[in-house]
Amino acid sequence: MKITQFELGLNGRVAIVTGAAIGNGRAFCERLAQEGAKLVIADLVDATETLRLVTEAGGVAVHVQADLTNPADADRVVEIALKEYGRLDILVHNVGHYSEEPFELLEFDEWKKTMVLTLDTMYHMVRAVLPTMKKAGFGRIITFSSDTVWLGTPYLTHYVTAKMGVIGFTRSLAAEVGKNGITINTVSVGLTATQSATGDAVQSSILEHILPAQAVHRPDEPEDIANVVAFLALPASGIITGQTINVDGGVARH
Ligand SMILES: NC(=O)c1ccc[n+]([C@@H]2O[C@H](COP(=O)([O-])OP(=O)(O)OC[C@H]3O[C@@H](n4cnc5c(N)ncnc54)[C@H](O)[C@@H]3O)[C@@H](O)[C@H]2O)c1
Repeated sequence: MKITQFELGLNGRVAIVTGAAIGNGRAFCERLAQEGAKLVIADLVDATETLRLVTEAGGVAVHVQADLTNPADADRVVEIALKEYGRLDILVHNVGHYSEEPFELLEFDEWKKTMVLTLDTMYHMVRAVLPTMKKAGFGRIITFSSDTVWLGTPYLTHYVTAKMGVIGFTRSLAAEVGKNGITINTVSVGLTATQSATGDAVQSSILEHILPAQAVHRPDEPEDIANVVAFLALPASGIITGQTINVDGGVARH
């Protein structure tokens, strides 16, 4: 494949990043903007700090507050991308929900919440972006799973079930949309030295437990995941689709 200058970075490309108020999503915005992409930063909560960091670094971005469990909000995010920039090339769907509970104590409400925030939001966002990407004959969709799906980590039946669902969705849809120039891949993320949306830092005791299990003995940083996201978003990555790329310092050597 011959790569043109345009295809080297993300100049001129437009990306929606969901769940970008903090943590990994914020790092994805900063990295994609560095590559030249214009951004729509979508989150349930206020993400003006992400917006500030991106624009202060010279990036172009808008912020949309949206509840992506609601299909009308997903459509609105896409409408804003098209109104602001006239095109849409990349969806980085990062919204997720994590909790730990022994199965016998796991309430149905928590099970449903995990499915809705992980799977329903993905369904709504992908449904919203596909018509535009199909029309353009180009698209990059990146979804997020977890290395716990390979490890079978206990107390996570709800989370691991949902994150396996992301992988199944990604594989099946890849087979449908490849002919339209659209790729979809998932990144299975290990414990990352980030913060939860509530602002709680990842506990150092958890990191102490995980680090010896890693092949590379340093914490996974959001920037480590962001590098893979940027790579998958490139036009030049167009032959990679339906894949799950594990980024966890080698805990799961998948
Ligand atoms: N951080 C980790 O250690 C880790 C490990 C494995 C997988 N992951 C996955 O990576 C992704 C990001 O994780 P994280 O820890 O950075 O973030 P997170 O899971 O704490 O939150 C993601 C963002 O989603 C937003 N959000 C929640 N509900 C929403 C809704 N209804 N509509 C729109 N936005 C909503 C939150 O406000 C938050 O900013 C998730 O899919 C997560 O499951 C993270």
